[in-house]
Amino acid sequence: MNTYYGDLCTKVYESDKSLARNKEVDFYLSFIKDKSTKVLEPMCGNGRLLIPFMLEGIQIDGFDLSEHMLEVCQIKARKLNLNPNVFIGKIEDFKTDQLYDLIIIPFGSFSLLPDELVANSLTNLKLALKKGGKILLTIVTKSDNINETSTWKETNRIQFDQEFIVEYRTVEYDKGNSLLNTQLKYELIQNEDLIKSEIMDFCIRLYERKEFEELLYLQGFQHVVFHEVVNGYGEGESFNVFECTL
Ligand SMILES: C[S@@+](CC[C@H](N)C(=O)[O-])C[C@H]1O[C@@H](n2cnc3c(N)ncnc32)[C@H](O)[C@@H]1O
Repeated sequence: MNTYYGDLCTKVYESDKSLARNKEVDFYLSFIKDKSTKVLEPMCGNGRLLIPFMLEGIQIDGFDLSEHMLEVCQIKARKLNLNPNVFIGKIEDFKTDQLYDLIIIPFGSFSLLPDELVANSLTNLKLALKKGGKILLTIVTKSDNINETSTWKETNRIQFDQEFIVEYRTVEYDKGNSLLNTQLKYELIQNEDLIKSEIMDFCIRLYERKEFEELLYLQGFQHVVFHEVVNGYGEGESFNVFECTL
C-alpha cells in the first residue's frame, strides 16, 4: 500500500530519531528570548525537537500531515507528563489566527516540499509571524555522493520484541529537477511471515545554498543569515540553517 509517513515508516523513524540531541536543541534554543517567546514547528513529526523544547518550558505548537507521527509525539509526550498542542495540517494549506515569534523547520524537512508548494508554504508561514519574528529553515543541500540503485536494497532492520521491520529502498537522482527520488518499502515480519507492508515515495528537493537564499529573497524576506552548525547532529554530521526575517 502506498503511504506517506505511515505506521511502519513512523516506527522506524522513532526507533532511531526519537529525540534531538543537545547541540541541535541548543542551537534552536539560542533564538528564544524568554519564556514568553511563542514558537511554531510545522512538519513537527514525532516531536523529536518539539518535546525537548517543551521540557525547557517553551510555548510551542506543532503540526504535521502524518497522523502516525503525531500519535507517536502525543504518546511520548504524555509519558513525560507533557500535553503538546499538535494538530494535523499541511504547510501549503496552513492558516491560523495565532502569531508566532519564531517558526522552525529542522532536519531538512522543508526539502520535502515540491517546487510548486514552496511559495504558498512560505506565504502561510510569513502570515503566522509576529512583527520582528524569525523563521529558521533547514534544507537538504546538493552533494556529490548520491548512490543510485534501481533494485530494492535493504537499508534498515529494526527488531521490536517478537517482530521486526525491514526497510528497503531504491534511489534515483533527477538531475534536471534536482530531485532525489527514493522509494521506500517497509515490511513487518512476525515469525518469518510478512504481516504488513508499506511503500512510500520519498522525494527530496536538493538545493544549492545560493539558490535557496535567492528563493527566500524572492519570496519577500529582507534578511537571510546562513548558519553552519558544525557536528550539530553528532560527530561529523553538520547542518545548515537559514535564518529569515521580513
Ligand atoms: C523527516 S520528518 C521530520 C520531522 C521533524 N521535523 C524532525 O525534526 O524530526 C518530515 C515530516 O514532515 C511531514 N510533512 C511532509 N510534508 C508535509 C506537508 N506538506 N505539510 C505538513 N507536514 C509535512 C511528514 O509527515 C514528516 O513527519
